[in-house]
Amino acid sequence: MKTAVIIGVGPERGLGGYLCIGAAQRDLHVVVAGRTREKLDAVVAAIERDGGAGTAVVCDTRDESAVVALVAQAEAIAPIDLAIYNAGNNMPGDFLEMEASYFEQCWRVGCFGGFLFARETLKAMVPRAAGCLLFTGASASLRGKPWFSAFAAAKGGLRNMAQSLAREFQPKGIHVGHVVIDGGIYGEKIEQGVPEWYQELGEEGLIGLQGIADAFMYLYQQPRNAWSHELDLRTHVENF
Ligand SMILES: NC(=O)c1ccc[n+]([C@@H]2O[C@H](COP(=O)([O-])OP(=O)(O)OC[C@H]3O[C@@H](n4cnc5c(N)ncnc54)[C@H](OP(=O)(O)O)[C@@H]3O)[C@@H](O)[C@H]2O)c1
Repeated sequence: MKTAVIIGVGPERGLGGYLCIGAAQRDLHVVVAGRTREKLDAVVAAIERDGGAGTAVVCDTRDESAVVALVAQAEAIAPIDLAIYNAGNNMPGDFLEMEASYFEQCWRVGCFGGFLFARETLKAMVPRAAGCLLFTGASASLRGKPWFSAFAAAKGGLRNMAQSLAREFQPKGIHVGHVVIDGGIYGEKIEQGVPEWYQELGEEGLIGLQGIADAFMYLYQQPRNAWSHELDLRTHVENF
């Protein structure tokens, strides 16, 4: 048996939830990590309904000792074969009014937590010369737009770190990937957070959860003589 550890899991109809179900369908025991116990339990219940196995672990990715403990807990179940950093906190902010703490918190979730998670999972994977480490990106990973300066700084930093890790650890047998999600996701976050946008764009104008989860699993299952570092995903109507 092997494990997947996926951090930044929220609602079942969210990207973290779909990634967990996708990993469980690949016969991995999924360590489902995030901030809210009820949401994690609901995702584990969905995995088990589907015949898979999962363990919920409350973990804030900004907390170094919590991330160290999370990875140790996953390794104690079985060797980690797949690790996904999915945490993000996309919030617009007026730059001239922006408080330093706001900018810093955006970076802590969007970038710094990715460093902690990558360092710990790589420490486990490198001695085995096997494993796959994936990061969730956004349009802001590639370009900064008005009102999203803090988010773009965090996501751009995460993407550059992922590139460094790919170049450093792929020769050591670890596949490192980054997925750019170029647009809104057709899931609970947008439905509840920006309902007008959800209605206006609908299923054709927002990126489908199953398609995104399939892309991550495609990266995970690539043979080591044909690895991609980055995939970008958008709907057919996206202007890019
Ligand atoms: N939603 C979109 O339209 C969209 C578009 C492009 C890219 N993305 C990216 O996709 C990823 C998933 O985002 P999503 O909005 O769709 O959410 P999601 O996958 O449904 O859930 C992500 C969860 O991460 C959790 N989280 C936030 N901060 C955390 C922290 N410090 N430690 C641990 N967990 C934390 C949150 O849990 P709680 O709910 O419990 O706070 C949140 O529900 C993010 O990286 C995001 O930037 C999303």
